[in-house]
Amino acid sequence: MIKKAVLPVAGFGTRFLPASKATPKEMLPIIDKPLVQYAVEEAINIGINEIIFITSPEKYSIKKHFDKNQDFEDRLRSSGKDEMVERLNPGIFTDVKFHYVNQNDQNGLGHAILQAEDIVDGDSFAVLLPDDLFFSEKSCLSQLLDLYKRVDASVIAVNKIDKDNIHKYGVIKPGSIDNNVINIEDIVEKPNKVDAPSDIAVCGRYIFKSSIFNFLKSTGFDKSGEIQLTDAIKILLKHEEVYAAVYTGEKFDCGSKQGFVHATIALALRDKSISNDIEKIIKEII
Ligand code: UTP
Repeated sequence: MIKKAVLPVAGFGTRFLPASKATPKEMLPIIDKPLVQYAVEEAINIGINEIIFITSPEKYSIKKHFDKNQDFEDRLRSSGKDEMVERLNPGIFTDVKFHYVNQNDQNGLGHAILQAEDIVDGDSFAVLLPDDLFFSEKSCLSQLLDLYKRVDASVIAVNKIDKDNIHKYGVIKPGSIDNNVINIEDIVEKPNKVDAPSDIAVCGRYIFKSSIFNFLKSTGFDKSGEIQLTDAIKILLKHEEVYAAVYTGEKFDCGSKQGFVHATIALALRDKSISNDIEKIIKEII
């Protein structure tokens, strides 16, 4: 029943300069797959069939990546490399519609999501921030969808964060908690350690009722000129119930260099084609 997903990918990626100067941060690979593809696959695997990228003209390589490349496919087939075709043009992309909407000014995550309003067209929709990479038997978005189906309200994925790092995240004030489901009372963006209402932080997966667009519009720009998604959720909470699902599984913050390298090592160690070599290399280094 959730058929549309919004993926904001228009940010500058300054933490990854100079790599992100000509290559979008979202196209940097974890082993052999661009970061953004992990999020796209997570969305498609719960039944989403419209992916709405909020992007910018400089990031044309994202579109190129998700377009079918028939010429290359024909070459692979004629040289007997049929097994590579699935890696080039994955079958799960076939019936998916990819939209690309430019965010002309990078005025924050809330502003980015607002650009999707026309295409979302009144439906409930998922938001995935590709920087956050999740590994679990049941995907983070799938766990969130289970909760959405139960409560029929906007839902947010959250996880516990070490208090020393809490200032980097949106943090919720929990109301009642029942078996990993939290009724959210309040939310604050990047609080300092002493003011944080809890150690439960928002991670990059959401399912919203389309009413969020009204609140994104009424939020307005903050003093740094951005529309903050957290601020819009704060207003949403005054009108509607919003729930959080505590994500169970592994999470890597690939928007930071440490998280990106951590994800690369973790995935390399579980990729059977290279894991023995990588383990040996790591042992040698240590
Ligand atoms: P971040 O602030 O983490 O990413 O935004 P960034 O701005 O690209 O990275 P740094 O901080 O400069 O290194 C979270 C997500 O929101 C998108 C980003 O692309 C990222 O996926 N975003 C952010 C937008 O699409 N538009 C914006 O105006 C801001």
